[in-house]
Amino acid sequence: MANTILVTGGAGYIGSHACLELLQAGYQVVVVDNLANSKLESLKRVQEITGKSLAFYQVDIRDHDALADVFAKESINAVIHFAGLKAVGESCEQPQMYYHNNVYGTLVLTQVMAESNVKQLVFSSSATVYGAAEQVQYTEDLPIGAINPYGRTKAMVEDILRDLSASDSLKPSQSPWKIAVLRYFNPIGAHESGRIGEDPNGIPNNLMPYVTQVAIGKLAQLSVFGDDYPTPDGTGIRDYIHVVDLVKGHIKAIEALQSEKFADGGCKAYNLGAGKGCSVLEIINTFEKVTGRKVNYKMAPRRAGDLAEYFADPALALRELNWKVEKNLEDMAADTWNWQVNNPQGYN
Ligand code: NAD
Ligand code: UFG
Repeated sequence: MANTILVTGGAGYIGSHACLELLQAGYQVVVVDNLANSKLESLKRVQEITGKSLAFYQVDIRDHDALADVFAKESINAVIHFAGLKAVGESCEQPQMYYHNNVYGTLVLTQVMAESNVKQLVFSSSATVYGAAEQVQYTEDLPIGAINPYGRTKAMVEDILRDLSASDSLKPSQSPWKIAVLRYFNPIGAHESGRIGEDPNGIPNNLMPYVTQVAIGKLAQLSVFGDDYPTPDGTGIRDYIHVVDLVKGHIKAIEALQSEKFADGGCKAYNLGAGKGCSVLEIINTFEKVTGRKVNYKMAPRRAGDLAEYFADPALALRELNWKVEKNLEDMAADTWNWQVNNPQGYN
């Protein structure tokens, strides 16, 4: 019998890679995306690469009736929920837009899911929900303490999902919610075909797209934000994870939700990261080694809101989802570069 996954935000960076892996793993895929930050071209290419087709609906998840129509037309088994706005700086300027899109959008989605009796959900959360912690290797039991509106939308949605799951005990006659909250560390890279990848609007905020645009000559110089952190080379340390490894974690989560492990329902959070930190200078050096290109950079002051160092403890995802990363930093650099040189203007 078909196992059909509704992917919200499926035309976006991570969503398009998830659609590709889902199709290749034999799932049927239905995408809902309002194309606010993506292009349909990504999904056209996903279908070309896989030789398989998916269903696409240009729908905003906040539109209850349009979303309910999709659930009525398609026979959905589970939802992977990527749709959301993700720029930290923009969330500080326009917090209402972020709360409306990310929090209200998830309320509408879960409402329609409940009405359609679809109760398996994988949610895109972020390591940013941890805020600043005493330890640099984050375990899932650390307190939540997001420090910007974007992060708070993720923390709020997590709370909503835990409350929804807890409410099952008061309604024993209904089928329970089965929810996996996946806290991503720093996703980078692209599919090895070089045909889908990250296509940021305007000047990128994140390190890897900035590095590639400097290497290809679209941007003049990278600013390394801070060389005086208490880290071995003074630059910030993060846990970078290849986007293909990341989306494979979602398939493992779906498998777990549909297995005996979640027979009684529940809402559980998992870190998705490599489990090891890497500095900004290490990223630049690896990128230069793999691509043979120089990355013109200068040292610059720290960026407001940045932490010196954090990385994932991914042991829970290994234990309970049977997932771990398979790709290394060289793969991430090579695949990002392959995407960049083959698509200098992104999907345009
Ligand atoms: P993205 O912007 O490329 O993809 C998000 C997709 O959601 C886009 O296609 C956009 O058009 C769509 N969308 C946004 N609001 C919508 C709405 N109201 N209705 C329908 N579609 C809507 O971003 P991404 O990098 O692929 O991120 C996917 C998810 O993962 C997001 O929820 C993001 O917050 C989360 N996340 C991303 C990162 C990262 O570094 N990329 C890190 C942690 C968490
Ligand atoms: N950095 C630079 N120069 C740049 C951009 C970034 O030196 O031009 C540095 C940052 O200071 C940081 C590292 O590179 O030390 C990574 O920065 P990114 O902006 O790529 O990523 P962040 O760790 O700041 O944040 C990312 C996402 C967030 C998400 C978080 C989860 O942007 O949305 O990961 O851990 F919440």
